[in-house]
Amino acid sequence: QKVCLAYSGGLDTSCILKYLLEEGYEVITFTANIGQEEDFDAVREKALKIGASKVYIEDLRREFIEEQCFPAIQCNAIYENVYLLGTSLARPVTARAQIAIAQKEGCFAVSHGCTGKGNDQIRFELAFYALQPSITVIAPWRDPVFYEKFKGRNDLLDYAKAMDIPVRSTKSKPWSMDENLAHYSYEAGILEDPNTSPPDNMWQLTVDPREAPDQPENFTVIFEKGLPVKLEYEGGKVVTDSVDLFLTANTIARRNGVGRLDIVENRFIGLKSRGCYETPGLTMLRAAHVDLEGLVLDREVRALRDQFVTFNYAKLLYNGLYFSPERAFLSKSIVASQEDVNGGVRCRAYKGSFSVLGRWSETAKLYDASESSMDEIGDFSPKDTTGFISVNAIRLKKYGKAMEDKGQS
Ligand code: ARG
Ligand code: SIN
Repeated sequence: QKVCLAYSGGLDTSCILKYLLEEGYEVITFTANIGQEEDFDAVREKALKIGASKVYIEDLRREFIEEQCFPAIQCNAIYENVYLLGTSLARPVTARAQIAIAQKEGCFAVSHGCTGKGNDQIRFELAFYALQPSITVIAPWRDPVFYEKFKGRNDLLDYAKAMDIPVRSTKSKPWSMDENLAHYSYEAGILEDPNTSPPDNMWQLTVDPREAPDQPENFTVIFEKGLPVKLEYEGGKVVTDSVDLFLTANTIARRNGVGRLDIVENRFIGLKSRGCYETPGLTMLRAAHVDLEGLVLDREVRALRDQFVTFNYAKLLYNGLYFSPERAFLSKSIVASQEDVNGGVRCRAYKGSFSVLGRWSETAKLYDASESSMDEIGDFSPKDTTGFISVNAIRLKKYGKAMEDKGQS
């Protein structure tokens, strides 16, 4: 019986691989390349050495950026006002690729190394079941036979030693990390005390804002239908390919220390969790997009989108509901909201901060400088506004009168 295991090459999934083999399964491993820094050849060798019958390593970087990160930019996705969903965005593409391999190889089950308290197990498994309702999921960290045997890292290390599983480094970082093109996340370990500040050397992607260059770095992002299509930087360099553009935004943000976060968030299962994140490029591209919408998007479209689409899209992604009817519905409304979001934003990254220097749009019909001007009389007369205020005051005068009568004014 074949199982397809999501394999990172780390200690946990290496022990799980061996454990599944010992349980009598044939194991095919799957490793997704979503932009994490990894020696994929070493991962392949290690999986084969432990006993995988076949190893798949797939480059999902483009679909991750185009299918996940870009729609998130289009709707300004954000969870609990801070988290830009870096991990949540990566899970759907990974889960989909894993199911495709399981199907191709005729696996009855898929397996993963997520812990039993987190969001990731939910994201993977809800995606698995939506994509292949008949699939069986083996989640060792929720199986008493497994977790009674492996109570902590030391048990895993002992097992690895006994089973001749190569271990990369015995010195574990005092927190857990997850890396992809969108972000680096850090949680658990010493970070579990929400009042313990992360040490300076934890951050992997961005330079310390205090050590960032003294010269600000300017660049321009061009959007079409809410999608970043062109980035101009370093006084004349241009990138247009979506992956190059995203990576360039990362590079600019990283060297200027933009995108660090430290939050306490609410996990889907109801636990609170402290997390630190570095989300360099996505932070800037999202902020530039928010800015352009100010110029081009209709006020009421924006308000409805903010209330219903942005909030719910972020929430469902966080909760692992990407493959769902509600997500398909929201995706259509994201596209519909972005028809007029065309134009450019001139941006600056400087010592950990992102700011906007200016914006323009050739197609924007909504903003009229002379209409909004304090210096010119436009299409309507100042007297019209007197009527506007009077009508709006009808209800408020009633309210004021009632308060007066109650003696509370
Ligand atoms: N708390 C974040 C989220 O739920 C990050 C999760 C990181 N995952 C991990 N396996 N280290 O999206
Ligand atoms: C995990 O439990 O595997 C990591 C944390 C999370 O999924 O939220």
